[in-house]
Amino acid sequence: MKILIADDDVTSRLLLQATLKKMGHEVVCVENGSRAWEAWQRDNFPVVISDWIMPELDGPDFCRLVRSHPRAEYTFIILLTALDGKGRFLDGMNAGADDFITKPFDEEQLAARLRSAERILSLIRDRVDAEEALQRRNAELEAVNEKLAGTQRQLVQSEKMASVGQLAAGVAHEINNPIGFVQSNLGTLRDYTQRFLAVIDTCEALARSVGDGQPVTQEVADVLGDFASIDYLRKDVIDLIGESLDGIKRVEIIVQDLKCFARLDDSQWEVVDPHVGLETAVNIASHELRYKAEIRKEYSATATIQCMPFQLNQVFLNLLVNAAQAIPGHGTITIRTQDDGDMVRIQISDNGVGIAPEHRDRIFDPFFTTKPVGVGTGLGLSVSYGIVDRHGGRIDVDSELGKGTTFTVRLPKRQISRAAGSPAEPPLGTTPATSRA
Ligand SMILES: Nc1ncnc2c1ncn2[C@@H]1O[C@H](COP(=O)(O)OP(=O)(O)OP(=O)(O)O)[C@@H](O)[C@H]1O
Ligand SMILES: [Mg+2]
Repeated sequence: MKILIADDDVTSRLLLQATLKKMGHEVVCVENGSRAWEAWQRDNFPVVISDWIMPELDGPDFCRLVRSHPRAEYTFIILLTALDGKGRFLDGMNAGADDFITKPFDEEQLAARLRSAERILSLIRDRVDAEEALQRRNAELEAVNEKLAGTQRQLVQSEKMASVGQLAAGVAHEINNPIGFVQSNLGTLRDYTQRFLAVIDTCEALARSVGDGQPVTQEVADVLGDFASIDYLRKDVIDLIGESLDGIKRVEIIVQDLKCFARLDDSQWEVVDPHVGLETAVNIASHELRYKAEIRKEYSATATIQCMPFQLNQVFLNLLVNAAQAIPGHGTITIRTQDDGDMVRIQISDNGVGIAPEHRDRIFDPFFTTKPVGVGTGLGLSVSYGIVDRHGGRIDVDSELGKGTTFTVRLPKRQISRAAGSPAEPPLGTTPATSRA
């Protein structure tokens, strides 16, 4: 063992040193407690044999310093004393000593005490090793748990998306037809109404011309009264039809989104620079973004990605519009791109209101929105999720309430077993709605 001896008495120190060396130990000697404390801090000594009374720092004080030090390795301290007695023994133990040897020391007793120290140190080392192994195992388990929780979240989300996708496909298909004929009929109705109104205008002009300066019959007066009473209807009817057409247009856009979410549309796969899509999205959203935020671009990705560009642009657009809508006054939106192995990472961050923890698991659900009617439909993120999923990528969110939100989209640079330019795969999952569409 490596043993530190602290003793101000030269004879006793040399004798102890010679004895310990003879036993095969490695020995370092110092002449007082302060030196012992310096040596102990510099080096690791499993055993220290320290004299009790020494100048500057005595044995018990040295013990107290060692015991208050946070070093992990245990030091077995044996106090050396010419004195005897229960009081001193207790003082030493309370200071942190492990054992005592009385001066002049007995060689056999010293050897026995060192063997006992060795046994205790070995037990302590085993315990420390076991604790370390346990901590490592715990850390590994925590990491595995974290990974499992992430995978479970993804799985739940995918399953939810798959079933909602079927529903969306069904709804989109069923609504599509009536919307089509309502829209077309409303257009025709507007034309017809305009023609009716023209005829009514002519009739009214005719009825007025009948009187033309002369007293009119009661019948003509009644007709003129009727015209006056439907005056506001004639003004309103075209507006009503116009508003209905706008409403139907909005429903048509929602159905379009649902179809996109349910994989019912067909896009071309191309190899493109993701920055082109990001720039397009920024331009399209410029009216939403211009007054809301300063756009910072930190583009460092160099790779191209194989994707359906039209669909990806929609993802970028949704994320940018959401970011702008989350900023109450004027803020900053940062767009970052980075190569990440065989993926490209695209991040859109804002310093807006953030997402409440209780909403975190719902934001990708279709029709989940916290925005007022007319501002949000709640389809942007679910559609984006579907698109990124179809590209074999993933979309994650990191948000702090009141601080801001970062959406991270990871997309594979290349689609395995898909040549550039080949048409989109048939939609996954043969839902009845999909095959009917
Ligand atoms: N950057 C963001 N910061 C804060 N909350 C966000 C952010 N992005 C999305 N959200 C929350 O997620 C909800 C769902 O977003 P999603 O884009 O799907 O729908 P929406 O924006 O409400 O409506 P739509 O996109 O259909 O117009 C939002 O209503 C909002 O509460
Ligand atoms: Mg949105």
